[in-house]
Amino acid sequence: MTTNNLFSEKTIDPDPFIQFKKWYDEQLSFNIAIPNSVSLATATKDGRASVRTVLLKDYNEKGFVFFTNYKSRKGSQLLSNPRAALLFYWPESARQIRIEGMTDLLSLDYSVSYFKTRPRENQVSAWASEQSSVIPGKDHLENRYLSFKKKFSEKEVLKPDFWGGFCLTPEWFEFWQEGKFRLHDRLTYFKRNGLWFIERLAP
Ligand SMILES: Cc1cc2nc3c(=O)[nH]c(=O)nc-3n(C[C@H](O)[C@H](O)[C@H](O)COP(=O)(O)O)c2cc1C
Repeated sequence: MTTNNLFSEKTIDPDPFIQFKKWYDEQLSFNIAIPNSVSLATATKDGRASVRTVLLKDYNEKGFVFFTNYKSRKGSQLLSNPRAALLFYWPESARQIRIEGMTDLLSLDYSVSYFKTRPRENQVSAWASEQSSVIPGKDHLENRYLSFKKKFSEKEVLKPDFWGGFCLTPEWFEFWQEGKFRLHDRLTYFKRNGLWFIERLAP
C-alpha cells in the first residue's frame, strides 16, 4: 500500500539543506503573512526548557540564522547552553520540520551589516527594549524609545553590543509530511563522520 509516494526515501534529497530549501521555497509560494516564523527552543544549563517565535533571517550550508537581544532569556540561555532546536509547522502543506543542533554567535560584521538593513525605528527599539526584563509599564518602554530616538537624531543608529545574531548548526533534521490514515512520513537526517544519513521514524 502506498499512502504518499511524493515524499519518500526515493525523492528526499541526500542533502538536508537542499531538502529544506525545496520545502521552504514551496512555503514562500503560498504567500502567507510570515513564512519565516519559527519556534526556537532553548534551555538553561540545568535543562529548564523554554520556547518562543523568532524570524529566520538567513540559512546557508552552515546553519540557520536569527537575531535577538543577547541579554534576553533566550540569549542568556544560548550563551550558557548552546544546544537549541527549531520547529517550523506549515499547515498549508501539512508539513513540519524539526532541526536540532548547536548555536554560535554570528560574527560582529554579519550582525552589524544586518542591523544596518533594519528600518531606523527598529534600530532605535533594539536600544530601547531591555528584552525579557520586567518593566514598570509601557510608558517606561516608550520613554526609552523617545530618549534613544533623540540621542541618535541626525546620527547613524549603531548596533548595540547586546544585540545580534545566532547561527544554529544542525546535527539532526526531521521532515514530516502528513500521510493518509495517519500514516505520516517522518524522514530524519543525522550526521556521522561528516556525512548525512537518512532514517525513517514511525509516525
Ligand atoms: C512572529 C514573531 C516573530 C518574532 N521574531 C523575533 C525575532 O526574530 N527575534 C526576537 O528576539 N524576538 C522575536 N519575537 C519575540 C519573541 O517571540 C519573544 O517574545 C522575545 O524574543 C523574548 O523571548 P525570551 O524572553 O524567551 O528571550 C517574535 C515574536 C513573534 C510573534
